[in-house]
Amino acid sequence: MPKVTAKRYVCRECGSAHSVWSGRCNDCGNWNSLDESDSNLGHFSKNLEPRKKSFKNSGMIVRKLSDDITPARFTPVGIAEFDRVLGGGIVAGATVLIGGDPGIGKSTLLLQAASLCSQHSKVLYISGEESVEQILLRAERLSEQSQHLNVATETSVEAIVDALATLKPDFVVIDSIQTMYLAGIEASPGTVSQVRASSHLLMSAAKKYGFSLVLIGHVTKEGAIAGPRVLEHMVDTVLYFEGERSQHFRLLRAVKNRFGACNEIGVFEMSSNGLREIANPSALFLADREEAISGTCVVPALEGTRPILIEIQSLVAQTHFASPRRAVIGWDQQRLAMIIAVLEKRFGYNFAEQDVYLNVTGGYRLQEPAADLAVVIALISSLGNYDVPINLAAFGEVGLSGEVRAVPQPDIRLREAVKLGFQEAILPKQGTQNSDKHGLHCTLCNDLTPLIRRFPPPLGAKNAAKFSTHSSAA
Ligand code: TYD
Ligand code: MG
Repeated sequence: MPKVTAKRYVCRECGSAHSVWSGRCNDCGNWNSLDESDSNLGHFSKNLEPRKKSFKNSGMIVRKLSDDITPARFTPVGIAEFDRVLGGGIVAGATVLIGGDPGIGKSTLLLQAASLCSQHSKVLYISGEESVEQILLRAERLSEQSQHLNVATETSVEAIVDALATLKPDFVVIDSIQTMYLAGIEASPGTVSQVRASSHLLMSAAKKYGFSLVLIGHVTKEGAIAGPRVLEHMVDTVLYFEGERSQHFRLLRAVKNRFGACNEIGVFEMSSNGLREIANPSALFLADREEAISGTCVVPALEGTRPILIEIQSLVAQTHFASPRRAVIGWDQQRLAMIIAVLEKRFGYNFAEQDVYLNVTGGYRLQEPAADLAVVIALISSLGNYDVPINLAAFGEVGLSGEVRAVPQPDIRLREAVKLGFQEAILPKQGTQNSDKHGLHCTLCNDLTPLIRRFPPPLGAKNAAKFSTHSSAA
C-alpha cells in the first residue's frame, strides 16, 4: 500500500498548524503566512536533526543515579540579588530566559553580570541590537571589571553556534532572542518560528558544550506572541524583570526555576552607573512616610521566602460621575470590588457615591490576598478621614462574610515589621494565637469587627445605622 503523507500548513508567523490551506491564519490572523509542510513538527522541522536511527541503536545512554555522576554546580554571578533569584547562580549546560519590557534594564543587568563573571570565567556577550563600540561604551560606564569580557555583534544563529564550538566559553548571553534568525526559516526574526528554532539550536549547543546560556527576550505590555512566553516550557529558568520605567527600582522575579525556589525576587535600583542592589527593600518602599495620615496602611507582603513592607494608599472622594470610578494601580481590580462589596453589605459602609483610588506605592505589583486587611484599613480610614498610625502594619485575607483568614508565614512578616520599627500589628487570629509577637502590640482578628470599631463608618452616612446594629451584636 502506498504511504499517504498528510499535508499540513504551518503559519510562519505564529507556528500553528492547519489541515487546510487558507489565505489567513485562523490563530494569529496574519495574511498569506501559511506554508505547506509534510511533517507534523511544523515547517522548521527540516532544520532540526532528523532521527534516522531506530530505537535499538539510537545511542541513548541510560545510567543509574547511584552511578558516579557529578551533580551540576552553581557558579555565583557575583550579584547577590541576581544569584538568590537564580537559586544560587548559573548552572553549566542550563538555559535562563530573562523577559521584560523594552528599556527596563535587561541588557544593563546582564552586561554587569557578564563583566563580573569574566573575572574568573570565559564569558561571551552576543548582541543583535548594539554594535561592539556601543557595548564597550556602556560596559565602561557600568563596571571597571569588563576588560576580560568577550563581545560580539551577530544575529545569525548558525554563525554563533559555529563560533561557540571553537571558542568554548563558560557563559554566553544572547541579547536578544528576538533579533536572532536561522537562514533556513522563511520568517522574519522575532516571529514565533524563528524564536523557537533559534532558541532550540542555542540550547542544544549549551548542553553539548556545557556552557550556561542566558537568553534575553522582550515582552510588550500587550504580551506579544513572539515574546518569551513561547519559550517558557523549553528553558530551565524563567525570570522576569519588572518595574515602571518612570520609577527607579526594578524587580527581578523567578516564575520558573528547575534549580531553586520560585517566586523569589531580587530588588535593584537603576542609577546613572547601572543597576544597584537593594539589600533592604522594605526601607526603600517606605522611604517617604513621615506622619500619620488617612488612607494608608503598610502590609508585610511575602515574595518567595522574603518579606517586604509595602504601603497601600487609598483616596475615597465624592464622585462627580454617574457611575463612581474605581481606579487601581498595583492590585487586582476584582479584589477591590469584592472588598468594597463586603464592607458595604456586611459592615454598613457606603461607597456608592464615592470614587475609589487605590495605589500600591513605588510601582510595586501586589499579588497576595494577605494585603486585603491593609486595603480595608486604607479604604475605611480614607472614607471617614481617620489618621492611621505610622507604626501600624496589617495583613490577613478577608473572606466574603467579612471573616479574616490566616495567611502563610505570619512570623516572618511580624519580624520584618519589628525590624523596620513598627510597633503595632493587626493580623488574623487563626494560626497566630500562640506565636511569638516579637514585642509588637497585636490585634488578632477573627473578622473585621476590631477595624470597624476603630474606623467606624462616618456619621451621617446612609447606612451608618446598620453599623451600630452590627457592632453591638459583635
Ligand atoms: P537597557 O538595559 O538597555 O534595557 P533593555 O535591555 O531591557 O531594553 O536599559 C535601558 C534604560 O536604562 C535606558 O532607558 C537608560 C537606563 N539606564 C540608566 O538609567 N543607567 C545606566 O547606567 C544604563 C546603562 C541605562
Ligand atoms: Mg537591551
